[in-house]
Amino acid sequence: MTFLVGGDAYDRFMGRYSTPLAPQFADFARVDAGQVVLDVGCGPGALTGELVRLLGSASVSAVDPSEPFVAAARERHPGVSVQRAAAEQLPFADQTFDAALAQLVVHFMTDPVLGLREMGRVVRHEGVVAACVWDHGGGEGPLSLFWAAARIIDPAIEDESQLAGSREGHLGELFKEAGLRDVEEGVLPVLVEHPSFDEWWEPFTFGVGPAGGLVASLDPEGRAKLREQCRKMLPAPPFALEAQAWAARGIV
Ligand SMILES: C[S@@+](CC[C@H](N)C(=O)[O-])C[C@H]1O[C@@H](n2cnc3c(N)ncnc32)[C@H](O)[C@@H]1O
Repeated sequence: MTFLVGGDAYDRFMGRYSTPLAPQFADFARVDAGQVVLDVGCGPGALTGELVRLLGSASVSAVDPSEPFVAAARERHPGVSVQRAAAEQLPFADQTFDAALAQLVVHFMTDPVLGLREMGRVVRHEGVVAACVWDHGGGEGPLSLFWAAARIIDPAIEDESQLAGSREGHLGELFKEAGLRDVEEGVLPVLVEHPSFDEWWEPFTFGVGPAGGLVASLDPEGRAKLREQCRKMLPAPPFALEAQAWAARGIV
């Protein structure tokens, strides 16, 4: 499990990209005042914060399987009910919510179709299930340069491009398999400024997610080699990194 890290480490590694993604994703899902919503795989709460801003904390629930992320989300968003659970087994009765959203989570689910089906189960009839996943498959994710550098050094390294929902159209296919209807797909762009190479690189050493797991598995020499390969491939700092996520929205 590569998500057993503190909220601050997550923020510096991925929150820097998922926080600007959240308002666009909530907009894509058409989250609207008066709704009661569930944030699935909330992490330390990047999307949760946006949902609280739109709906108020009493209308937002969140789940994540990672204990430290549950603790961080609870601390950051008092008033939100945050529980430790996975998408595949949600601790809610049928039709509890108007919408269930999963930002950057489907590709980590053990069983993505079951997870999406569970999200549909806890949403009322005519409610919304929405999800988004970085474009790892098309090489336009925020970690794509890192994985390209790693595979130049060792082509046998497995990146995240084969994960569920990370190639164009795949989220939509999964949604339909999960029994959701009127599925719409979209693409959500983010642009993040990096003031220095070290500000970009250091969070990769915090052990977060598959990329952090790879860095943690390397010896000091391997790590230095990968760092240098990344430096060669990135523009001179400061630089702006553009990335995009595939998104899908379906009706229950
Ligand atoms: C990249 S983070 C996204 C966190 C947050 N949604 C965000 O946008 O910053 C992926 C999250 O999915 C969670 N996760 C992993 N497997 C999961 C599953 N089966 N069900 C729900 N969440 C899961 C991880 O614990 C982690 O918090």
